[in-house]
Amino acid sequence: MKHLIIALPIAFGALSAAHAAEPVSFAKDIVPVLKSRCVMCHLTGQEPGNMKLAPKAAHAALVGVKATEMALNRVEPGKPDESYLVLKLDGTHVAAGGTGDRMPTGGAPLSAEQMATIRAWIEQGAPNN
Ligand code: HEC
Repeated sequence: MKHLIIALPIAFGALSAAHAAEPVSFAKDIVPVLKSRCVMCHLTGQEPGNMKLAPKAAHAALVGVKATEMALNRVEPGKPDESYLVLKLDGTHVAAGGTGDRMPTGGAPLSAEQMATIRAWIEQGAPNN
């Protein structure tokens, strides 16, 4: 029983912080996706897209920052459908006036679950939490 009591808060720590909607943690839920699927190309900001997605730099490079490929912000807090990041991951960016490939370039799209997590984080105001 003791193990369960210790393990649960670790597993669900992010969820227990609030009770209404499940709060998404940028550090725990978003950064791991960026690390596994994006930083190999978007590490220092010298790369195409001019965007650092390394863990400590990613939030500042995304939230409220205008995209280089079109007029939308990369992440518009509260508005996933107006966030260029989401359009690039969905592959709907060209229809919206953007350019280039769906992200990750040349790789499989993010999973539906990863996409839902990113959308939820933006809907929750894209906090640096
Ligand atoms: C194989 C290399 C590669 C990978 C992996 C990759 N990207 Fe990119 N990304 C690029 C290149 C090259 C561009 C610029 C040309 C283009 O848009 O196709 C770009 C552009 C972008 C832009 C547009 C930036 C702007 O300001 O206009 C976004 C947003 C983006 N990537 C997000 C991501 C995310 C999020 C991931 C991980 C899920 C990712 N990329 C993975 C190479 C990559």
